[in-house]
Amino acid sequence: MKSRLFSLLIFFPFFLLCCTPQQPNYRIGVSQCLDDAWRQKMNQEMSRELLLHPEMTISTRIAYGSNVLQCAQIDSFISERVDLLIVSPNEAEEVKPAVTRAYRAGIPVIVADRRVTGDEWTAFIGGDNYKVGGLMAEWILKKKSECEVTPNRPFHVLEICGLQGSTPATLRHKGMMDGLQVLEKADSGSPVVVHSVMGEWQKTDAYNAVQQYLSENPLPDVVVAQNDLMAIGAAEAIHDFLPYGSSSARPIMGVDGIKPGLQAIVDGVIECTAIYSSRGDMIIQAASQILSGEPFIRDTVLETMLIDAMAARPMLKQVDAREHDLETLRLVQAQNEQKWQQLNATKKMLVYFVIVSCVLFLLSIGYVLFAQGKMQTEIRRDIIPQLEEVQEAIQLSRKDAVFAERLRQVVDEHLSDPNLNVESLGSMLQLSRTQLFRRVKMVAGKGPLDYIRERRLVQADKLLHTTDMTVQQVALSLCFSSPGYFTKCYKEYFGHLPSVR
Ligand code: FRU
Repeated sequence: MKSRLFSLLIFFPFFLLCCTPQQPNYRIGVSQCLDDAWRQKMNQEMSRELLLHPEMTISTRIAYGSNVLQCAQIDSFISERVDLLIVSPNEAEEVKPAVTRAYRAGIPVIVADRRVTGDEWTAFIGGDNYKVGGLMAEWILKKKSECEVTPNRPFHVLEICGLQGSTPATLRHKGMMDGLQVLEKADSGSPVVVHSVMGEWQKTDAYNAVQQYLSENPLPDVVVAQNDLMAIGAAEAIHDFLPYGSSSARPIMGVDGIKPGLQAIVDGVIECTAIYSSRGDMIIQAASQILSGEPFIRDTVLETMLIDAMAARPMLKQVDAREHDLETLRLVQAQNEQKWQQLNATKKMLVYFVIVSCVLFLLSIGYVLFAQGKMQTEIRRDIIPQLEEVQEAIQLSRKDAVFAERLRQVVDEHLSDPNLNVESLGSMLQLSRTQLFRRVKMVAGKGPLDYIRERRLVQADKLLHTTDMTVQQVALSLCFSSPGYFTKCYKEYFGHLPSVR
């Protein structure tokens, strides 16, 4: 019973520690090529999805458009032995070696949005860039059909391209050119001429490239930018280029459908955009599937569609609502985290308390056992012998009382016997002479003869007081050698003469 209680007390704190459900903690490295609005949306989507996957934590590094920096950041993730790498490569060829290194180091790699060359990666999730190009081509021809172009005057398209080494830039361009070719065959109007400038995915680069273009060329009929930010940059460049109050702004199409793009459509700055989803949520879901060994789709290509002013308005509202939800979610998460921390702190304190109590309990038990042992030794060494002595003494005194009574009886029965002496008394009491002397001395405080004389004197005194016997008669009946000797003894013992009654 005691030992069961012991083990319960000792194991209780560890039980408390162990009953916290232990989840695997997967560390995920996220390598982002840029930090623009589209990337921030993707990061937010990943963070939101992570709320449903407490088993994963992410660490994000941004390369700010530098291949060298991105490779170094991926290498640092490799040396930190992250459990999974999510990478959106700045340029396919340049970042490929680092991605391959991670893959060969056994780290699962999810390539997001921009592809790498080769196939040393685990999964890909990104938009259909070729189709995005196709939508651009459709829109260009729609615009061409809407405006009255003088027959055979070429329809001028200004294309603002993203970074050339990135797969979306090349695929969007190819999709657009292929689309124009196919569609133009069916449409026997004036030719479409495409002029391409480099915007490197950035608004300011696009602005500068368009300004430069306009300084050397006439206004194009339409502008297609490979993302919304470059489309806005182009709109600003055209606006700044045209004389104040001019109404010759050109229709512009962007790509992405992120908040600034939708706002630009609603404000009439650009005409439309092609949706290019970032789907950070899907990326995290795929990461979870890969890490937990579940089946996953290796190549996910996301759908796209054109968003015009009609669709942009409700979408913008949706984006605002989503941002609001996200903010609420973040607040709830922060509160939850705080509660968790408090709970953990309380649990820790409880565990410490139980441990300290156990230690104190064990110490007191130890002390009690020690004190008990010490006391037992003391009792065995000091008290038990004393008790034995007392017991012995009690036994002895009981024996002595019995002996004293017997001595008195035997002596009193033979007071008138002239042969009563040390020898006869010894034989009556079955004691040797020495034993007789020792024991009589012990119980009566005097020798046997003195004791016999004392008993005779007491008897004599009794007779003198209760009978009519004379001193002489009493002395003789109690075997005193003479009445004189009796008188002498009597006086010595009682302090007065026997004649004084
Ligand atoms: C964001 C971005 C998007 C574009 C995508 C292409 O960094 O430039 O605007 O659609 O990357 O990878």
